[in-house]
Amino acid sequence: MTDVETELRMMEVPGTAESARPLLSVRDVVKHFDVSGGTFRRLLYGPRTVKAVDGVSFEVARGETIGLVGESGSGKSTTAKLVARLLPVMAGEVWLAGRDVLKASTGEMKALRKEIQFIFQDPFSSLNPRMRTEMIIGRALTIHFGLHGEARRERVLQLLERVGLSSQHLERYPHEFSGGQRQRIAIARALATEPSLILADEPVSSLDVSIQAQVLALLQDLRTRLGLTMVFITHDLNVAEYVSDRILVMYGGKIMEEGSTDVVMQRPLHPYTRALLDTRPRIGRPGQMRPLEGEPAVPLNPGPGCRFASRCPIGVTECTEQSIPLVEKRNGHSVACIKA
Ligand SMILES: Nc1ncnc2c1ncn2[C@@H]1O[C@H](COP(=O)(O)OP(=O)(O)O)[C@@H](O)[C@H]1O
Ligand SMILES: [Mg+2]
Repeated sequence: MTDVETELRMMEVPGTAESARPLLSVRDVVKHFDVSGGTFRRLLYGPRTVKAVDGVSFEVARGETIGLVGESGSGKSTTAKLVARLLPVMAGEVWLAGRDVLKASTGEMKALRKEIQFIFQDPFSSLNPRMRTEMIIGRALTIHFGLHGEARRERVLQLLERVGLSSQHLERYPHEFSGGQRQRIAIARALATEPSLILADEPVSSLDVSIQAQVLALLQDLRTRLGLTMVFITHDLNVAEYVSDRILVMYGGKIMEEGSTDVVMQRPLHPYTRALLDTRPRIGRPGQMRPLEGEPAVPLNPGPGCRFASRCPIGVTECTEQSIPLVEKRNGHSVACIKA
């Protein structure tokens, strides 16, 4: 290193190198579930494994929202739980802002719990029914910032206002709110810790369509105002298209396709993505709706090949014989298909 280089290196603002890296880096995470059942079922059917997440890798840049899409059972929720360490991984790594999440000690985990927040599908079961709104949101403020009393109430109020609620909602219990309002409270609670990453698992799927639009608009607004980084899980491509910078299509525990939202929606490469796009409801084109053929992937003891092969309209023998890697075609648009 020359003197000039050394000097330049020393002039670097602390954190510059770090901020250039992706906020979240997920590398080859694996989670299989043994679903053989009791001794009798095991004897009868043999050992059975669901490869819920089977070597998933992706990165999320600061301020970016990625949409993780796929049918029910494709492994989306399990992936999110692995990232937040709500489930132990079998293999792989998760890095958040240069910190090794899966190797974090108990003490470090407390800090990471603050950095990674979840928003779940059903706000009714994710909010404690015996707590008032002030406590639901305020608890995290006490745990992570040591706030109490009036200071805490003031901060809760700010958070409520940020999600479109007000002081009249402070004293109420979850059952006194509508579904959309409850999800707003869950969002305020997630924001309370000032997390660097939000994992939103089907956050609007339990809401009526008109309410969905309002909550999505709120999330978009918060994204731009607060620069949130988000992994947004949904089975609904229309929702994913609306909220995501990039889309990851998941099926049978694997990423099938990845790319910027426009490219994936307009020039999908994977037959599974195309099938998902064909089946999505579109206003004014009800005739376009047809169910995806074949059984959705519950990958019980799957072979080495493509998990979509049995339902694929363009599959060939080779698809089932070898593992199909995710390959970048151009500009961050990747696909795991030998026929694409
Ligand atoms: N705790 C568990 N025990 C056994 N199987 C599970 C468990 N959690 C998830 N699975 C299975 O793993 C697969 C992926 O599940 P999940 O991650 O919930 O998918 P998604 O969120 O995409 O609907 C499914 O086949 C599901 O039945
Ligand atoms: Mg799920």
